[in-house]
Amino acid sequence: MFTANGDYSLLEGNYLFYEIGKRAREYQAANPDSDIIRMGIGDVTRPLVPAVIDAMHRAVDEMGSEKTFHGYGPDFGYDFLREAILRRDYTARGAGISVDEIFISDGAKCDVGNIQELFSRDCIVGIMDPVYPVYLDTNVMGGRSGRFSPKRNGYERIVYLPATESNGFVPDLPKERVDVLYLCYPNNPTGMTLSHSQLRVFVDWANETGALLLYDSAYESYITDENVPHSIFEIEGAQTCAIEFRSMSKTAGFTGTRCAYTVVPKALVRLDSFGNKVSLYDMWARRVSTKFNGVSYITQVGAAAAYNEGYEQIKDVVAYYMENARIIREGMESAGYTCFGGINAPYVWIKVPHGDSWRFFDELLKERNIIGTPGAGFGASGEGYFRMTAFASRENTLSAMKRMEK
Ligand code: MLT
Repeated sequence: MFTANGDYSLLEGNYLFYEIGKRAREYQAANPDSDIIRMGIGDVTRPLVPAVIDAMHRAVDEMGSEKTFHGYGPDFGYDFLREAILRRDYTARGAGISVDEIFISDGAKCDVGNIQELFSRDCIVGIMDPVYPVYLDTNVMGGRSGRFSPKRNGYERIVYLPATESNGFVPDLPKERVDVLYLCYPNNPTGMTLSHSQLRVFVDWANETGALLLYDSAYESYITDENVPHSIFEIEGAQTCAIEFRSMSKTAGFTGTRCAYTVVPKALVRLDSFGNKVSLYDMWARRVSTKFNGVSYITQVGAAAAYNEGYEQIKDVVAYYMENARIIREGMESAGYTCFGGINAPYVWIKVPHGDSWRFFDELLKERNIIGTPGAGFGASGEGYFRMTAFASRENTLSAMKRMEK
């Protein structure tokens, strides 16, 4: 008889952005005339840039001709894209990874969830708090969390590392055993960053303890400060302890088109649950070639254009969103709120005066028709804060700040 995975019943409520979408739809249905401004999920609103569109059109034409048609692509992505990524994102920054360590995928969200197949079942997972909820939820689904403990306000087997105002949004090193640690910088949701020396502390800790770092740098293209690393592989020693996730979604407007990549260094070697020495690179390669048939040729051609002829156009789009971030940060500050982030990231993290982030969500939705994201949805340490994204249009960003003036 079939038995379903009981770990799903340990999940606390719906996926955060599903819940927000649901509440927004319900409110809109009950108030059809309301003009809601959406600053909740970080979904981009600028169209794909002309260079990407031109490249995709050419790729569509190729697919329509017998001579230039492409069926299944190479397992780990086309070299024209992997090489463009290597050049811009790594070689130019002195991060010495090789082209075959880059795995093209259809999303960092999928990869940060799927990577768990490489962990043994009894690995202890450490998660920054607050953080992108996918790390926690996928580990609950994967049976690594234990039960939710209301007393602890968290799962029994997850080690939470608070990243709050009091530690400058940089967690302290774990004081107990952690085998896998998820780090996200520029951070979603706080918009805060790590310096090279702060990141080096985590790399050194991981190499000393044998832990694995999962570094999500999906928002690296929003870094404006020279002293902030874009990649963990800018730090010496990261090749023996880290995997990095990157996304074209926020960088180049691919939230709907889907393209991302994961870097798994060949130097990542560990013992498996049978005591065998194994290469995480070989394991990930085996997983990808077995369970994934690649991102479409058309999408990869468009993504490569974002790195090549479209690079300056992409930078303009990033600058557009960062101007929105400035408008939000200054608008909220002049409305009397304390704000963080929004300087090296498209997210502004706002302190909620009464401390209840879901109540603030409801108030903003009902009184000002603005949707943001309650900090509690990113973890217990997110309570008392509220996230606004810079990904709305300029017009809507300005209107939202006008509504906040009142
Ligand atoms: C967010 O709003 O945190 C992100 O857009 C969600 C995602 O990238 O999956």
